[in-house]
Amino acid sequence: MRAAAFTGLGGPSNVEVIDAPEPTVAADQALVRVRGAALNRHDLLYLQGDFRLREEHLPFVSGVDVAGEVIDIGTDVDSVSVGDRVVLSPMQTCGKCKFCRDGPENLCEHYGLFHGGFAERAAVDASRLVPLPADVDFVSAAALPVAYMTAWQMLRRAGVAAGDTVLVPGATGGVGVAAVQLIDTLGARSICTSTSESKLERLEEFGADYRLRVEAPDALEDAVAGLRPIDAVLNHLGGAFTAAGVSVLRRGGRMVICGRTAGRHSTIDTQDLFLEHKRIVGSTMGTQADLERVVEFVENNRFEPPVHATYELEETGRAFADMVSRDFVGKLVVTP
Ligand SMILES: NC(=O)c1ccc[n+]([C@@H]2O[C@H](COP(=O)([O-])OP(=O)(O)OC[C@H]3O[C@@H](n4cnc5c(N)ncnc54)[C@H](OP(=O)(O)O)[C@@H]3O)[C@@H](O)[C@H]2O)c1
Ligand SMILES: [Zn+2]
Repeated sequence: MRAAAFTGLGGPSNVEVIDAPEPTVAADQALVRVRGAALNRHDLLYLQGDFRLREEHLPFVSGVDVAGEVIDIGTDVDSVSVGDRVVLSPMQTCGKCKFCRDGPENLCEHYGLFHGGFAERAAVDASRLVPLPADVDFVSAAALPVAYMTAWQMLRRAGVAAGDTVLVPGATGGVGVAAVQLIDTLGARSICTSTSESKLERLEEFGADYRLRVEAPDALEDAVAGLRPIDAVLNHLGGAFTAAGVSVLRRGGRMVICGRTAGRHSTIDTQDLFLEHKRIVGSTMGTQADLERVVEFVENNRFEPPVHATYELEETGRAFADMVSRDFVGKLVVTP
């Protein structure tokens, strides 16, 4: 079958369509005809050799977010049938460790992610498939798993409730726009930042309450000066946005971190942290129930995930180039 694979580590020019082995279905798996596979910065980090993927794994087919039709099932599968429309919860957990038993499941000590969505077909764990309502299309569904599960879990960890004010530095990409829409759905207020005025304008239609052009972390404090107190910061950028975000939190405020686009390290004033009872919490992905919840939100027209562009399988490299350029709002989806 055809698949868009990383044939080298580096950049978008290392993404090529290859003739990949036909996936075989194990007893507990389902074979999905992929209709949508969204890009995440995670895929880009893999491609750049910045996270786990090494030369010996090449060629490597990435693609974590998958939506499509079930075209075959393993002998032990009764949770889905051939013909079902589905979206994959891409988490892989052991189901046995104390974290799997006690929850949430995304804390599993053997936690991993499915990869292989940038292909015509994908063999996946059938128990990780979430049925799609008839009026949720494949491209929208593919936009949901990583970005919306992660943002929803972050909001839950931050304890965000109606009326709260939540700062989202870098609000125009996958996790950022998901956060904005979910904050709006909760009845909370969002303060959104971007380096791009034109991208900030787009955020208005997704329910963004305040849109601030912020070029660098040290400009954050002045930019939000009139909008405090801030109850929570959803921080997917990491780096110096972490110290800057902590410093603008109200007493007792919460920061939840899920990423490091802007760097891995930050210097925090610990005295500010303890005297003002602030909290910093790490978070990765969400639970399958979180994915079911965001699918319900879309089904019930609470929001539509914005898909900036779709790409044929042959154009997957261009999709990566668009992610590198930062010239997009929301999600980029490959339609193999
Ligand atoms: N732990 C988890 O489970 C998990 C799950 C999902 C994502 N993540 C992480 O969360 C982050 C966001 O992922 P995503 O897929 O939403 O990425 P994305 O769509 O590429 O995010 C784009 C956003 O990031 C901003 N940005 C890009 N490069 C930047 C830089 N060098 N400095 C400052 N801002 C920058 C952009 O700002 P402008 O608007 O100014 O261009 C834009 O708002 C990544 O670090 C990803 O690895 C983690
Ligand atoms: Zn486990």
